[in-house]
Amino acid sequence: RPDEVGRLPALGWNSWNAYGCDVDETKIVEAASNINSTGLQALGYEYVNIDDCWSVQSGRDNVTHRIIPDPEKFPSGINGTAKQIHDFGLKLGIYSSAGTETCAGYPASIGYEDIDAQAFAEWGVDSIWDDEYNACVPDSDFPGVNPDGTCPDLEDPAPPGYDWATSNTTKRYNRMRDALVAVQDTRVILFSLCEWGNADVVSWGNGTGNSWRVSGDINATWDRITAIANLNAHELDSVDFFGFNDPDMLEVGNGNLTIEENRSHYALWAIMKSPLIIGTDLSTLPDSHLSILKNADLIAFNQDPVIGKPAFPYKDGYANGTWNPQHPPEYWSGSTSYGWDLVLLLNSQNVSATRTAVWSEIPQLHGKAHKVEDVWTGKDLGCIKDEYSVELQAHDVAVFKITGTC
Ligand code: GLA
Repeated sequence: RPDEVGRLPALGWNSWNAYGCDVDETKIVEAASNINSTGLQALGYEYVNIDDCWSVQSGRDNVTHRIIPDPEKFPSGINGTAKQIHDFGLKLGIYSSAGTETCAGYPASIGYEDIDAQAFAEWGVDSIWDDEYNACVPDSDFPGVNPDGTCPDLEDPAPPGYDWATSNTTKRYNRMRDALVAVQDTRVILFSLCEWGNADVVSWGNGTGNSWRVSGDINATWDRITAIANLNAHELDSVDFFGFNDPDMLEVGNGNLTIEENRSHYALWAIMKSPLIIGTDLSTLPDSHLSILKNADLIAFNQDPVIGKPAFPYKDGYANGTWNPQHPPEYWSGSTSYGWDLVLLLNSQNVSATRTAVWSEIPQLHGKAHKVEDVWTGKDLGCIKDEYSVELQAHDVAVFKITGTC
Protein backbone atom coordinates (compact mmCIF):
# COMPACT_ATOMS: atom_id res chain seq x y z
CA ARG A 1 0.00 0.00 0.00
CA PRO A 2 2.59 2.52 -1.08
CA ASP A 3 0.18 5.40 -1.56
CA GLU A 4 -3.43 6.38 -1.07
CA VAL A 5 -4.87 3.76 -3.45
CA GLY A 6 -7.63 1.89 -1.65
CA ARG A 7 -7.67 4.13 1.41
CA LEU A 8 -11.32 5.07 0.77
CA PRO A 9 -14.12 2.94 -0.70
CA ALA A 10 -13.71 2.68 -4.49
CA LEU A 11 -16.08 4.77 -6.61
CA GLY A 12 -16.72 3.74 -10.17
CA TRP A 13 -18.58 1.65 -12.70
CA ASN A 14 -18.46 -2.04 -13.69
CA SER A 15 -19.83 -3.81 -16.76
CA TRP A 16 -21.38 -6.86 -15.09
CA ASN A 17 -24.74 -5.63 -13.77
CA ALA A 18 -25.26 -3.59 -16.92
CA TYR A 19 -24.14 -6.00 -19.66
CA GLY A 20 -23.15 -9.37 -18.19
CA CYS A 21 -20.90 -11.25 -20.57
CA ASP A 22 -21.75 -8.93 -23.43
CA VAL A 23 -18.90 -6.54 -22.75
CA ASP A 24 -16.56 -4.86 -25.23
CA GLU A 25 -14.26 -1.90 -25.73
CA THR A 26 -16.99 0.34 -27.14
CA LYS A 27 -19.17 -0.13 -24.08
CA ILE A 28 -16.27 0.40 -21.69
CA VAL A 29 -15.13 3.58 -23.40
CA GLU A 30 -18.73 4.78 -23.65
CA ALA A 31 -19.18 4.21 -19.92
CA ALA A 32 -16.05 6.25 -19.24
CA SER A 33 -17.29 9.01 -21.49
CA ASN A 34 -20.64 9.05 -19.68
CA ILE A 35 -19.02 9.10 -16.25
CA ASN A 36 -17.18 12.15 -17.45
CA SER A 37 -20.06 13.96 -19.17
CA THR A 38 -22.70 13.30 -16.48
CA GLY A 39 -20.56 14.93 -13.81
CA LEU A 40 -20.04 11.65 -11.94
CA GLN A 41 -16.30 11.90 -12.44
CA ALA A 42 -16.23 15.35 -10.87
CA LEU A 43 -17.91 13.81 -7.81
CA GLY A 44 -15.16 11.21 -7.45
CA TYR A 45 -16.25 8.19 -9.49
CA GLU A 46 -13.01 7.01 -11.06
CA TYR A 47 -12.80 3.27 -11.77
CA VAL A 48 -14.21 1.83 -15.00
CA ASN A 49 -14.11 -1.93 -14.59
CA ILE A 50 -14.28 -4.65 -17.20
CA ASP A 51 -15.93 -7.71 -15.61
CA ASP A 52 -15.95 -11.31 -16.84
CA CYS A 53 -15.71 -12.41 -20.53
CA TRP A 54 -13.00 -10.04 -21.81
CA SER A 55 -10.56 -12.70 -23.01
CA VAL A 56 -10.22 -15.49 -25.51
CA GLN A 57 -11.97 -18.49 -24.01
CA SER A 58 -9.82 -21.23 -25.49
CA GLY A 59 -6.72 -20.69 -23.37
CA ARG A 60 -3.61 -18.72 -22.64
CA ASP A 61 -0.85 -17.70 -25.00
CA ASN A 62 1.38 -20.76 -25.60
CA VAL A 63 4.59 -18.84 -25.19
CA THR A 64 3.96 -16.10 -22.62
CA HIS A 65 1.16 -17.97 -20.83
CA ARG A 66 -0.70 -14.68 -20.62
CA ILE A 67 -4.49 -14.41 -20.87
CA ILE A 68 -5.30 -13.21 -24.41
CA PRO A 69 -7.72 -10.29 -24.69
CA ASP A 70 -10.51 -11.10 -27.16
CA PRO A 71 -9.41 -9.24 -30.33
CA GLU A 72 -12.97 -8.83 -31.55
CA LYS A 73 -14.33 -7.44 -28.31
CA PHE A 74 -11.21 -5.40 -27.49
CA PRO A 75 -9.57 -4.49 -30.81
CA SER A 76 -7.15 -2.10 -29.06
CA GLY A 77 -6.29 -4.76 -26.48
CA ILE A 78 -6.54 -4.04 -22.78
CA ASN A 79 -3.60 -1.65 -23.01
CA GLY A 80 -5.26 0.32 -25.81
CA THR A 81 -8.51 0.40 -23.84
CA ALA A 82 -6.66 1.51 -20.70
CA LYS A 83 -5.10 4.35 -22.66
CA GLN A 84 -8.53 5.65 -23.68
CA ILE A 85 -9.82 5.39 -20.10
CA HIS A 86 -6.73 7.16 -18.76
CA ASP A 87 -7.22 9.94 -21.30
CA PHE A 88 -10.45 10.82 -19.47
CA GLY A 89 -8.47 10.92 -16.21
CA LEU A 90 -10.20 7.70 -15.14
CA LYS A 91 -8.81 4.31 -14.10
CA LEU A 92 -9.32 0.90 -15.66
CA GLY A 93 -10.24 -2.24 -13.74
CA ILE A 94 -10.20 -5.83 -14.90
CA TYR A 95 -11.64 -9.14 -13.74
CA SER A 96 -10.04 -12.46 -12.92
CA SER A 97 -10.70 -15.36 -10.62
CA ALA A 98 -8.74 -17.20 -7.94
CA GLY A 99 -9.72 -20.48 -9.52
CA THR A 100 -9.08 -22.47 -12.69
CA GLU A 101 -11.69 -20.61 -14.69
CA THR A 102 -13.92 -17.58 -14.34
CA CYS A 103 -17.60 -17.86 -13.51
CA ALA A 104 -18.40 -17.60 -17.21
CA GLY A 105 -15.75 -20.18 -18.15
CA TYR A 106 -12.77 -18.06 -19.23
CA PRO A 107 -9.12 -18.57 -18.19
CA ALA A 108 -8.46 -17.51 -14.59
CA SER A 109 -5.48 -16.81 -12.42
CA ILE A 110 -4.83 -19.68 -10.06
CA GLY A 111 -1.23 -20.75 -10.64
CA TYR A 112 -0.67 -17.76 -12.94
CA GLU A 113 -0.81 -14.95 -10.41
CA ASP A 114 2.64 -13.54 -11.21
CA ILE A 115 2.13 -13.73 -14.97
CA ASP A 116 -1.29 -12.09 -14.74
CA ALA A 117 -0.22 -9.37 -12.31
CA GLN A 118 2.69 -8.51 -14.62
CA ALA A 119 0.44 -8.39 -17.67
CA PHE A 120 -2.17 -6.26 -15.90
CA ALA A 121 0.49 -3.84 -14.67
CA GLU A 122 2.06 -3.55 -18.13
CA TRP A 123 -1.32 -3.00 -19.76
CA GLY A 124 -2.07 -0.10 -17.42
CA VAL A 125 -4.72 -1.80 -15.29
CA ASP A 126 -5.52 0.00 -12.02
CA SER A 127 -7.82 -2.43 -10.26
CA ILE A 128 -8.61 -6.12 -10.15
CA TRP A 129 -11.82 -7.85 -9.21
CA ASP A 130 -10.80 -11.37 -8.20
CA ASP A 131 -13.59 -13.90 -8.34
CA GLU A 132 -13.74 -17.35 -6.81
CA TYR A 133 -14.92 -19.95 -9.28
CA ASN A 134 -13.66 -23.51 -9.63
CA ALA A 135 -11.35 -22.80 -6.79
CA CYS A 136 -11.05 -26.38 -5.65
CA VAL A 137 -8.28 -28.04 -7.60
CA PRO A 138 -7.76 -31.47 -6.07
CA ASP A 139 -4.97 -32.72 -8.32
CA SER A 140 -2.80 -29.66 -8.33
CA ASP A 141 -0.20 -28.19 -6.02
CA PHE A 142 -2.23 -25.06 -5.63
CA PRO A 143 -3.93 -24.38 -2.37
CA GLY A 144 -7.52 -25.11 -3.23
CA VAL A 145 -8.21 -28.24 -1.24
CA ASN A 146 -8.56 -29.18 2.38
CA PRO A 147 -5.51 -30.79 4.00
CA ASP A 148 -7.34 -34.16 3.76
CA GLY A 149 -7.67 -33.77 -0.01
CA THR A 150 -11.40 -33.01 -0.08
CA CYS A 151 -12.93 -29.90 -1.58
CA PRO A 152 -14.08 -27.46 1.06
CA ASP A 153 -17.67 -26.36 1.03
CA LEU A 154 -16.73 -22.78 1.50
CA GLU A 155 -20.08 -21.72 2.84
CA ASP A 156 -20.00 -24.24 5.66
CA PRO A 157 -19.44 -22.81 9.09
CA ALA A 158 -15.91 -23.37 10.31
CA PRO A 159 -15.21 -26.25 12.67
CA PRO A 160 -14.76 -24.96 16.22
CA GLY A 161 -11.39 -23.31 16.68
CA TYR A 162 -10.62 -23.24 12.96
CA ASP A 163 -8.42 -20.34 11.90
CA TRP A 164 -9.73 -19.04 8.60
CA ALA A 165 -6.61 -16.92 8.14
CA THR A 166 -4.82 -20.16 7.28
CA SER A 167 -7.58 -21.46 5.01
CA ASN A 168 -7.03 -22.31 1.39
CA THR A 169 -9.26 -19.48 0.32
CA THR A 170 -7.06 -17.03 2.20
CA LYS A 171 -3.94 -18.58 0.69
CA ARG A 172 -5.28 -18.35 -2.85
CA TYR A 173 -6.12 -14.67 -2.46
CA ASN A 174 -2.81 -13.98 -0.76
CA ARG A 175 -1.01 -15.36 -3.81
CA MET A 176 -2.58 -12.66 -5.96
CA ARG A 177 -1.98 -10.04 -3.25
CA ASP A 178 1.72 -10.94 -3.26
CA ALA A 179 1.86 -10.87 -7.05
CA LEU A 180 0.31 -7.39 -7.07
CA VAL A 181 2.75 -6.20 -4.42
CA ALA A 182 5.60 -7.53 -6.59
CA VAL A 183 4.55 -5.30 -9.51
CA GLN A 184 3.69 -2.20 -7.55
CA ASP A 185 6.75 -0.31 -8.76
CA THR A 186 5.26 -0.58 -12.25
CA ARG A 187 1.65 -0.01 -11.23
CA VAL A 188 -0.31 0.16 -7.99
CA ILE A 189 -3.38 -2.03 -8.45
CA LEU A 190 -6.44 -1.93 -6.21
CA PHE A 191 -7.36 -5.44 -5.08
CA SER A 192 -11.05 -6.34 -4.66
CA LEU A 193 -11.80 -9.84 -3.39
CA CYS A 194 -14.92 -11.42 -4.80
CA GLU A 195 -14.98 -14.51 -2.56
CA TRP A 196 -18.76 -14.22 -1.93
CA GLY A 197 -18.41 -13.85 1.83
CA ASN A 198 -16.82 -17.29 2.10
CA ALA A 199 -14.24 -18.44 4.60
CA ASP A 200 -15.15 -15.79 7.19
CA VAL A 201 -13.47 -13.16 5.03
CA VAL A 202 -14.31 -10.32 7.41
CA SER A 203 -11.76 -11.81 9.80
CA TRP A 204 -8.83 -11.76 7.33
CA GLY A 205 -9.80 -9.69 4.26
CA ASN A 206 -8.10 -6.62 5.61
CA GLY A 207 -4.70 -8.27 5.43
CA THR A 208 -5.29 -9.31 1.83
CA GLY A 209 -7.30 -6.81 -0.19
CA ASN A 210 -8.87 -3.38 -0.23
CA SER A 211 -12.41 -4.75 -0.13
CA TRP A 212 -14.09 -8.12 0.09
CA ARG A 213 -17.49 -9.35 -0.94
CA VAL A 214 -19.71 -10.28 1.99
CA SER A 215 -22.25 -12.34 0.05
CA GLY A 216 -23.22 -14.06 -3.16
CA ASP A 217 -24.36 -11.95 -6.09
CA ILE A 218 -26.75 -9.07 -5.90
CA ASN A 219 -29.66 -8.72 -8.31
CA ALA A 220 -32.07 -5.89 -9.01
CA THR A 221 -34.77 -6.93 -6.55
CA TRP A 222 -35.75 -5.40 -3.22
CA ASP A 223 -35.55 -8.77 -1.49
CA ARG A 224 -31.96 -9.38 -2.54
CA ILE A 225 -30.85 -5.84 -1.78
CA THR A 226 -32.35 -5.93 1.71
CA ALA A 227 -31.00 -9.42 2.41
CA ILE A 228 -27.46 -8.27 1.59
CA ALA A 229 -27.90 -5.00 3.50
CA ASN A 230 -29.11 -6.96 6.50
CA LEU A 231 -26.13 -9.30 6.37
CA ASN A 232 -23.63 -6.48 5.95
CA ALA A 233 -25.23 -4.35 8.65
CA HIS A 234 -24.22 -6.96 11.21
CA GLU A 235 -20.62 -7.32 10.00
CA LEU A 236 -19.41 -3.74 9.94
CA ASP A 237 -16.98 -3.77 12.85
CA SER A 238 -13.80 -4.25 10.81
CA VAL A 239 -14.68 -1.63 8.18
CA ASP A 240 -12.17 1.22 8.17
CA PHE A 241 -9.58 2.88 5.92
CA PHE A 242 -8.03 0.51 3.35
CA GLY A 243 -10.44 -2.32 4.17
CA PHE A 244 -14.12 -2.27 3.23
CA ASN A 245 -16.91 -4.79 3.19
CA ASP A 246 -18.33 -5.11 -0.32
CA PRO A 247 -22.06 -5.85 -0.45
CA ASP A 248 -21.67 -6.04 -4.26
CA MET A 249 -22.10 -3.59 -7.09
CA LEU A 250 -24.98 -1.16 -7.37
CA GLU A 251 -28.22 -2.06 -9.14
CA VAL A 252 -29.46 1.54 -9.21
CA GLY A 253 -31.19 1.97 -12.57
CA ASN A 254 -31.72 -1.74 -13.19
CA GLY A 255 -34.72 -4.07 -13.25
CA ASN A 256 -38.02 -2.88 -11.86
CA LEU A 257 -36.75 -1.25 -8.70
CA THR A 258 -38.93 1.68 -7.68
CA ILE A 259 -37.38 5.08 -7.19
CA GLU A 260 -37.74 4.60 -3.43
CA GLU A 261 -35.92 1.26 -3.64
CA ASN A 262 -33.13 2.77 -5.72
CA ARG A 263 -32.76 5.56 -3.18
CA SER A 264 -32.67 3.21 -0.18
CA HIS A 265 -30.18 0.87 -1.91
CA TYR A 266 -27.78 3.70 -2.69
CA ALA A 267 -28.09 5.39 0.70
CA LEU A 268 -27.47 2.16 2.63
CA TRP A 269 -24.46 1.25 0.48
CA ALA A 270 -23.02 4.74 0.85
CA ILE A 271 -23.34 4.92 4.64
CA MET A 272 -22.00 1.37 5.13
CA LYS A 273 -18.85 2.68 3.36
CA SER A 274 -19.25 0.15 0.59
CA PRO A 275 -17.43 0.56 -2.68
CA LEU A 276 -19.96 2.45 -4.85
CA ILE A 277 -19.64 0.73 -8.21
CA ILE A 278 -22.38 1.73 -10.62
CA GLY A 279 -23.74 -1.18 -12.66
CA THR A 280 -26.12 0.33 -15.16
CA ASP A 281 -26.09 1.72 -18.70
CA LEU A 282 -25.47 5.41 -18.06
CA SER A 283 -26.51 6.44 -21.57
CA THR A 284 -30.16 5.60 -20.82
CA LEU A 285 -30.29 6.35 -17.10
CA PRO A 286 -33.01 8.91 -16.30
CA ASP A 287 -32.06 12.05 -14.36
CA SER A 288 -34.23 10.89 -11.46
CA HIS A 289 -31.83 7.97 -11.00
CA LEU A 290 -28.65 9.80 -11.93
CA SER A 291 -29.35 12.31 -9.18
CA ILE A 292 -29.34 9.47 -6.64
CA LEU A 293 -25.84 8.46 -7.76
CA LYS A 294 -24.80 12.11 -7.56
CA ASN A 295 -25.94 12.82 -4.00
CA ALA A 296 -23.04 14.91 -2.77
CA ASP A 297 -23.75 14.42 0.95
CA LEU A 298 -23.88 10.64 0.71
CA ILE A 299 -20.71 10.60 -1.37
CA ALA A 300 -19.06 12.90 1.17
CA PHE A 301 -20.06 10.55 3.99
CA ASN A 302 -18.75 7.54 2.06
CA GLN A 303 -15.47 9.29 1.19
CA ASP A 304 -14.72 11.02 4.50
CA PRO A 305 -10.93 11.54 4.50
CA VAL A 306 -10.66 11.59 8.30
CA ILE A 307 -13.20 9.04 9.56
CA GLY A 308 -13.02 5.55 8.05
CA LYS A 309 -15.76 3.98 10.15
CA PRO A 310 -19.19 3.49 8.56
CA ALA A 311 -22.58 4.40 9.98
CA PHE A 312 -24.00 1.76 12.32
CA PRO A 313 -27.53 0.76 13.20
CA TYR A 314 -28.40 2.36 16.52
CA LYS A 315 -31.44 0.17 16.81
CA ASP A 316 -32.95 -2.58 14.71
CA GLY A 317 -36.34 -3.12 13.26
CA TYR A 318 -39.64 -1.44 12.97
CA ALA A 319 -40.99 1.56 14.79
CA ASN A 320 -42.08 -0.59 17.71
CA GLY A 321 -38.52 -1.83 18.11
CA THR A 322 -39.06 -5.48 17.18
CA TRP A 323 -36.53 -6.64 14.69
CA ASN A 324 -37.69 -8.95 11.95
CA PRO A 325 -34.57 -10.78 10.75
CA GLN A 326 -35.87 -10.66 7.17
CA HIS A 327 -35.48 -6.89 7.21
CA PRO A 328 -32.36 -4.76 7.48
CA PRO A 329 -31.96 -2.44 10.46
CA GLU A 330 -33.99 0.71 9.92
CA TYR A 331 -32.33 3.21 12.28
CA TRP A 332 -28.77 4.26 11.48
CA SER A 333 -26.36 6.99 12.52
CA GLY A 334 -22.81 7.96 11.66
CA SER A 335 -20.22 10.65 12.25
CA THR A 336 -18.34 12.77 9.75
CA SER A 337 -15.33 15.03 9.97
CA TYR A 338 -17.29 17.83 8.30
CA GLY A 339 -19.12 19.08 11.37
CA TRP A 340 -22.33 17.13 10.80
CA ASP A 341 -23.67 13.75 11.80
CA LEU A 342 -25.87 11.56 9.66
CA VAL A 343 -29.13 9.86 10.56
CA LEU A 344 -30.91 7.43 8.25
CA LEU A 345 -34.41 6.04 8.71
CA LEU A 346 -35.60 3.21 6.49
CA ASN A 347 -39.04 1.79 5.87
CA SER A 348 -38.39 -1.75 4.64
CA GLN A 349 -42.05 -2.68 4.97
CA ASN A 350 -44.35 -3.06 1.99
CA VAL A 351 -46.69 -0.28 3.11
CA SER A 352 -46.06 3.32 4.02
CA ALA A 353 -45.14 3.92 7.64
CA THR A 354 -43.93 6.53 10.09
CA ARG A 355 -40.35 6.48 11.31
CA THR A 356 -39.16 8.64 14.17
CA ALA A 357 -35.63 9.69 15.02
CA VAL A 358 -35.45 10.25 18.77
CA TRP A 359 -32.34 12.33 19.49
CA SER A 360 -31.70 10.72 22.89
CA GLU A 361 -31.45 7.28 21.23
CA ILE A 362 -28.70 8.34 18.81
CA PRO A 363 -25.16 7.89 20.16
CA GLN A 364 -23.64 10.82 18.21
CA LEU A 365 -26.19 13.35 19.41
CA HIS A 366 -25.94 15.12 22.74
CA GLY A 367 -28.55 17.75 23.23
CA LYS A 368 -32.27 18.26 23.22
CA ALA A 369 -32.58 20.24 20.00
CA HIS A 370 -30.74 19.83 16.70
CA LYS A 371 -30.47 21.60 13.36
CA VAL A 372 -31.58 19.24 10.61
CA GLU A 373 -31.23 19.19 6.83
CA ASP A 374 -32.82 16.74 4.41
CA VAL A 375 -30.10 15.04 2.34
CA TRP A 376 -32.36 14.32 -0.67
CA THR A 377 -33.94 17.75 -1.05
CA GLY A 378 -31.19 19.84 0.55
CA LYS A 379 -33.99 21.52 2.53
CA ASP A 380 -33.21 23.10 5.89
CA LEU A 381 -35.75 21.65 8.31
CA GLY A 382 -34.82 24.07 11.07
CA CYS A 383 -34.26 23.50 14.76
CA ILE A 384 -35.98 20.35 15.95
CA LYS A 385 -36.56 19.44 19.58
CA ASP A 386 -36.45 15.88 20.98
CA GLU A 387 -37.49 13.89 17.90
CA TYR A 388 -38.40 14.05 14.24
CA SER A 389 -40.99 11.89 12.49
CA VAL A 390 -41.35 11.21 8.79
CA GLU A 391 -43.96 9.37 6.80
CA LEU A 392 -42.12 7.07 4.39
CA GLN A 393 -43.48 5.30 1.34
CA ALA A 394 -42.93 1.54 1.17
CA HIS A 395 -39.18 0.83 0.86
CA ASP A 396 -38.21 4.48 1.08
CA VAL A 397 -35.51 6.09 3.16
CA ALA A 398 -35.01 9.43 4.86
CA VAL A 399 -31.49 10.73 5.37
CA PHE A 400 -30.66 13.74 7.53
CA LYS A 401 -27.64 15.87 8.20
CA ILE A 402 -27.56 16.98 11.80
CA THR A 403 -25.53 20.15 11.64
CA GLY A 404 -25.45 21.19 15.28
CA THR A 405 -27.40 21.83 18.45
CA CYS A 406 -29.76 24.77 18.71
C1 GLA B 1 -19.49 -13.90 -10.10
C2 GLA B 1 -19.28 -12.58 -9.35
C3 GLA B 1 -20.00 -11.47 -10.07
C4 GLA B 1 -19.51 -11.37 -11.51
C5 GLA B 1 -19.66 -12.72 -12.20
C6 GLA B 1 -19.02 -12.75 -13.56
O1 GLA B 1 -20.82 -14.30 -10.05
O2 GLA B 1 -19.73 -12.71 -8.03
O3 GLA B 1 -19.81 -10.25 -9.39
O4 GLA B 1 -18.18 -10.92 -11.51
O5 GLA B 1 -19.07 -13.76 -11.44
O6 GLA B 1 -19.12 -14.01 -14.15
